[in-house]
Amino acid sequence: MSEETKSNKFSRRKFVKGIGSSIAGGYILSPAIAKAAKKISKEAKDFSEGKVPLSLKVNESVINVMIEPRTTLAELLRDELKLTGTKVVCNHGECGGCTVLLNNKAVYSCHLLALDAAGKDVTTIEGLSSNGKLHKIQQAFVDEDGLQCGFCTPGQVMAAAALLYKYSKPDKQQIMKEMSGNLCRCAAYPNIIKSVLSAVEKSNG
Ligand code: FES
Ligand code: FES
Repeated sequence: MSEETKSNKFSRRKFVKGIGSSIAGGYILSPAIAKAAKKISKEAKDFSEGKVPLSLKVNESVINVMIEPRTTLAELLRDELKLTGTKVVCNHGECGGCTVLLNNKAVYSCHLLALDAAGKDVTTIEGLSSNGKLHKIQQAFVDEDGLQCGFCTPGQVMAAAALLYKYSKPDKQQIMKEMSGNLCRCAAYPNIIKSVLSAVEKSNG
């Protein structure tokens, strides 16, 4: 290798090395960039991903989350809060499988945006029992065998709980009307109605 080539090689390597060091050094040592990078909070990151803040109460607990505006209440409950007792069956607002209480009224959680529940009270099947004791409507479903496969049952129970908030002593016709938005593919309707009637009797007995 000629002296000229040697010198060129040395110069090129030195040059590249020098540039590399100055870039790396500049990146690592720039206090402004490092400080700014550290300052990116999770919330700011969420905002940049199109998420918005939501505050609501679920089963008596205040929940503050960042969600995408398109998130349904069912998705929030199941995917974010892991309250999987709420079932998504049709996901089209047709079967009532996803029924939860919103300010004590029955709603289809698959058909409601989570943002529409802002500032409200949501009760799911997990929140009905208290101190390890089943809610009277849950107990009635057990006692009267108000289910078969059980997949529609959380929704049926929540619809029945809403019914008991609405009427103190509903008759069979009112029960059938109020529960008509909850379908049961096993056709366990006779025992579902019997369960609700039993809970009504016990509440007023
Ligand atoms: S799953 Fe919501 S109405 Fe069917
Ligand atoms: S009990 Fe099976 S769908 Fe209702």
